[in-house]
Amino acid sequence: MALTISMINWKGGVGKTTLTLHLAAGLAHRNKRILMIDLDAQCNLSFLALGVDRYVNEVYSNNCITLKNLFDCYFKNETICVDDLIHQRLVRSAPGKIFKRLDIILSHQDLVLLDLKLAKTQKAGRDHKETTRFEIEKIAVLHQILSKVKEQYDYIFLDCPPNVNLVTQNAFFTSDYYIVPAIPDFLSTTGISLIDKFMQDFNKDFKSMCEYSEIEEEYKETRFGGIIFNMVDEYGGVPKKTHQETISLIERQFPRKVFENYLTDGDGIATASSINIPVYAFADLPRANQNGEKQAEYLNRIIDELIAKII
Ligand SMILES: Nc1ncnc2c1ncn2[C@@H]1O[C@H](COP(=O)(O)OP(=O)(O)O)[C@@H](O)[C@H]1O
Ligand SMILES: [Mg+2]
Repeated sequence: MALTISMINWKGGVGKTTLTLHLAAGLAHRNKRILMIDLDAQCNLSFLALGVDRYVNEVYSNNCITLKNLFDCYFKNETICVDDLIHQRLVRSAPGKIFKRLDIILSHQDLVLLDLKLAKTQKAGRDHKETTRFEIEKIAVLHQILSKVKEQYDYIFLDCPPNVNLVTQNAFFTSDYYIVPAIPDFLSTTGISLIDKFMQDFNKDFKSMCEYSEIEEEYKETRFGGIIFNMVDEYGGVPKKTHQETISLIERQFPRKVFENYLTDGDGIATASSINIPVYAFADLPRANQNGEKQAEYLNRIIDELIAKII
């Protein structure tokens, strides 16, 4: 049964998408069965995984199914075939190579509009209980479809946009854990307590709504899986002083939540992204191979810790 993990931070540019791809790819290299889902209308994960040209070709020329179609079907009261939504053998592992165990649900730029439509849709039930059930239904669209395939995966990673709109709430609702990627600087760490508070309220609200409306399935809390620091600058093999100070501050604020292992800032990931492959294929990079190897090693340590932490 898959463990479902949302990658979230209200701040953009902290590495949510980069870590989603690399945790997923790293686990796929370890023979785990992985699904990753791009929930961001900016489609960065989809672009990174496929390459922009291929994405455009698949989605706009070949009418490849995306997350947009899932919500379209919800509005039209139609069912969508989960096998059409999930794409196998699309994610690139190295030049000319495709992952066999890393599947993807693609995003679409129109998700922004869908979010608004979802917010406006208010189905009135016969009584307050039914209206509450309809409210839950809106947040459980993704959960419903994933429940059909959870047995087929070991991990499902959800790359969330930096907002708490209803599509993003669909990710929270279905997740077992949320992980916060962060850069050790003031702006990307100040929001962590807000996320923590939001998730506590979210869990409380949906637990009571699910109980009250007597829906069949019991609400499962989305737990705080931890904070992973990214783009850390090292000096002498350890985080440079200002970064270490921020990391220590966050460790005191969130005891046992900060991952011991972090990802360094470097050209390996930037170079790998530019040719749409994960940094594990560092040997195939046109430059920055050494830095790529280092980042791949640090990512592997994060994955070891993730496996140990999240059972
Ligand atoms: N460890 C890293 N080293 C170098 N560049 C990175 C690293 N992590 C992320 N980046 C780059 O930073 C930018 C933002 O990362 P991204 O994963 O898209 O953030 P988010 O999804 O939080 O907006 C991207 O251009 C990405 O390639
Ligand atoms: Mg992103």
